[in-house]
Amino acid sequence: MTRPPQDWGVNPNYFWLWGRRPDAPVTIDDGGVVHVYGHAECLEVYGNPQAYSSNVEALLLGEAPEGEALNEGALSAADPPKHTKMRKIVSRAFTPKMVADLEPRIVELAGDLLDATQGRSGLELISDLAYPLPVIVIADMLGVPAGDRELFKQWVDQILAAAGDLTVESTGKSREDEDVAAAMGQLPELMDYLRAHVAERRTKPREDLLTKLVEAEIGGERLSENAVVTFARELLVAGHLTTSATIGNMLLCLDSHPEQMARIRTNPRLDAGVVEETLRFYGPLAASVRASVADTELAGVKVPKGRLVRLWLGAANRDTRQFTDPDVFDPDRDPNPHLGFGRGIHFCIGAPLARLESRIALRMLLERYPKLRRDMDHAPEFLALDDILGVSKLQMLTD
Ligand code: HEM
Repeated sequence: MTRPPQDWGVNPNYFWLWGRRPDAPVTIDDGGVVHVYGHAECLEVYGNPQAYSSNVEALLLGEAPEGEALNEGALSAADPPKHTKMRKIVSRAFTPKMVADLEPRIVELAGDLLDATQGRSGLELISDLAYPLPVIVIADMLGVPAGDRELFKQWVDQILAAAGDLTVESTGKSREDEDVAAAMGQLPELMDYLRAHVAERRTKPREDLLTKLVEAEIGGERLSENAVVTFARELLVAGHLTTSATIGNMLLCLDSHPEQMARIRTNPRLDAGVVEETLRFYGPLAASVRASVADTELAGVKVPKGRLVRLWLGAANRDTRQFTDPDVFDPDRDPNPHLGFGRGIHFCIGAPLARLESRIALRMLLERYPKLRRDMDHAPEFLALDDILGVSKLQMLTD
């Protein structure tokens, strides 16, 4: 599978998957949307938050009154100087060491999920492992008691269902404000739940991320209760499906490159390269967005103020000016400056966690199932969500 067959339901807009190249690194469509396909041009946008704002909601829905914006207080929607301050504070809590220390716990959780499939001759990789693992890890890391895990999973399902209702394909459905809010994780039950836990951590600190977020400070300044709740919700929305999709896409890439599957089996240290190459070749975030807030120029194209700018990360990751043989899945690529985690001030804060989970999932699958392979009687299915490229069903045989 260097190129996905038509019957897999992959979004046809992701033209790079079929080896096609964009007409130009930057184009503007009839609706005025700016499309950025080039690697260097994406870097230029990421590197200029003064001209390209992350507060896209203000452009699409208009400036909301104070406190009423759907994405109010979200790190990913903030611009400097607010973003700089918030990111510094949350980085005090969400540290690489905290993530590295999660390893034994993630191994245990993944082991439990795989144990539950024992006695079967196969796995449905997504529902058995890739979908539940990242939600449980985030809930666990925040400090959600194991007994409430099911609740958390239900909320995540609701967020996903709302996001599905917003896709371009589902034009029969109206884009209700509640759907937009729910897709951003604004479920009243989830918000109330997180708020109650944050309040409790103030008086009864525990060894968990919520406590660390409540206590983190820079120059005497801490996050408000609302800010902690918003960040916790953001972790769920930003960190769940992206990681699930990476695990699924990675197995699909390896299965269709048996020579690479054989190499990783004999040399498990290649795992990091496999994860990075999956993020380039089949990166789960096909596009990220910005709003132009100044008149600028990109690759000779005039970009006026007030435009939606789509950074097509998947296309940039196959830019021939940056990558040799971009349509070849090559885990040995070094360096591999893919944009799967974005770049610049908004570079994915969860990257160390996503990398760790993906490596653990890969290692455990290979260790447990020496004959793991795709079940050819069932074609993989893909998520029907805008800007996401991820397998939603991947039936695998284990013996
Ligand atoms: C392989 C899985 C993942 C991928 C491909 C991914 C991708 C990205 C990308 C491309 C961005 C930058 C978006 C932009 O600049 O517009 C981003 C930001 C972010 N990601 Fe991830 N992500 C992943 C996993 C995670 C995880 C596990 C978490 C947390 C648990 C997380 C939390 C965040 C947050 C909070 C931001 C916003 C950072 C900021 O604005 O400063 N992500 N992610």
